[in-house]
Amino acid sequence: MTLATDDALWPMRPMARLAWRVGLGVAPALAACLRPFSPLRFGQTVIALRHDDVREVFLNDPTYAAPYAERLALITGGQPFLLGLQDGPEYRAALRALRGLLDLPRDAERVGRDAAAIVAAGLPASGPVDVVGLFRRATFDAVARWLGVPSADGPPDRLAVWGTRLFGFQFGGGPSVTDEQARPFAEAMRAHVAQAVAVRKAAGTAADDLLGRSLTLQAGGNPWFTDAAISTALLCLLVGGPPQPPMLAANALDQLLRRPDWLARAQKAACAGDEEELRGIVQEAMRFDPLAPALQRVAVRDGTLAVGTMRARAVPAGTQVLAAIASAMADGRRLVDPRRFDPLRPAADYLHFGHGLHECFGRELNSVLIHRLLMPLLQRPRLVRAAGASGRLAKRGVHAERLEIDLAL
Ligand code: HEM
Repeated sequence: MTLATDDALWPMRPMARLAWRVGLGVAPALAACLRPFSPLRFGQTVIALRHDDVREVFLNDPTYAAPYAERLALITGGQPFLLGLQDGPEYRAALRALRGLLDLPRDAERVGRDAAAIVAAGLPASGPVDVVGLFRRATFDAVARWLGVPSADGPPDRLAVWGTRLFGFQFGGGPSVTDEQARPFAEAMRAHVAQAVAVRKAAGTAADDLLGRSLTLQAGGNPWFTDAAISTALLCLLVGGPPQPPMLAANALDQLLRRPDWLARAQKAACAGDEEELRGIVQEAMRFDPLAPALQRVAVRDGTLAVGTMRARAVPAGTQVLAAIASAMADGRRLVDPRRFDPLRPAADYLHFGHGLHECFGRELNSVLIHRLLMPLLQRPRLVRAAGASGRLAKRGVHAERLEIDLAL
């Protein structure tokens, strides 16, 4: 099958790009003005802006369900996966089965180490490098290896292109993508993963990756691990996971470049191998530019938000609900001095990886992977933005697309 894989992400019209840029530019100030009145209704949409309201949305899955099932079904060919399910026995069984595959913290260490090695090998001795592209290759290669999915034939980074396109289709926040545009990528990626499962099963080789561990459980009689369930899990982990760290790591780096003192602290921590300090700095940098301003939910029955307060608002069934995590992480009612850069904030201040039922499955990986992507760059003595426009973080919708950094040994 021939797919338009020359362009890493979906194409986007200049006017749409501009509209997103302006929207994202004004969003933090607008959110700060409107936050006292949260939750707000605009037509068929309710927006939760306060930290407490956002958590309330996430903690009420029976009312505010994740709206991902339909698009996920196009990707998986109708097979269910975590993010498309509401709480219940099917969701619980899937989560138990998949978390049972993890060998933590060893897996996180392995993925972080592999990704950092790929970044280090991809850095030029001197001159400019697009870190988003490099982080994408590193993350996809390291995560796919951990999952047990080989690279796809054809152009380099093909799997990363497929996965990133499908991530954009699934979660939005950029060019609008139709089912017809997404379908060939879904079919190609699904076929690739299914073949990887079939080949490994036929070979009968043992391997310490998620595919290998799944097949061992299958052979041991665990009924959850059918071939279809294994393929779907690997596919969805590839689509839902690795597209994100490259974008968020670039956002964090951009924020550090705006704060030379903190960039210097991060460089010092990276050179000293002080990962605890570096993790805190990177997590805090991400707070000023999270991956997405909001996560989507849909009210599947009548509900009320800000229950028990003067601000209580009815949310009729069918309402689209936006849980604005970026605004929540800037809410001075819960965070001490939210405008201050403070890497020592309590973990509860952060909502980067969601909260409640659908909280990120890859959170332990992320807590190693994101700062490890940055480490090889931060260990270089000279790290500045490339000259001109290429040295500014370019976004496609909400997502980081390109950021060139100029390096020297
Ligand atoms: C920067 C990195 C990442 C970010 C910011 C991130 C963020 C998130 C968020 C916000 C959610 C919740 C979505 C919602 O409630 O609507 C989520 C769920 C999920 N994430 Fe991540 N994620 C990242 C990396 C990963 C990785 C590396 C993996 C796996 C390899 C992964 C797998 C998943 C899965 C499977 C879910 C669904 C969990 C469920 O429904 O129970 N994520 N992620």
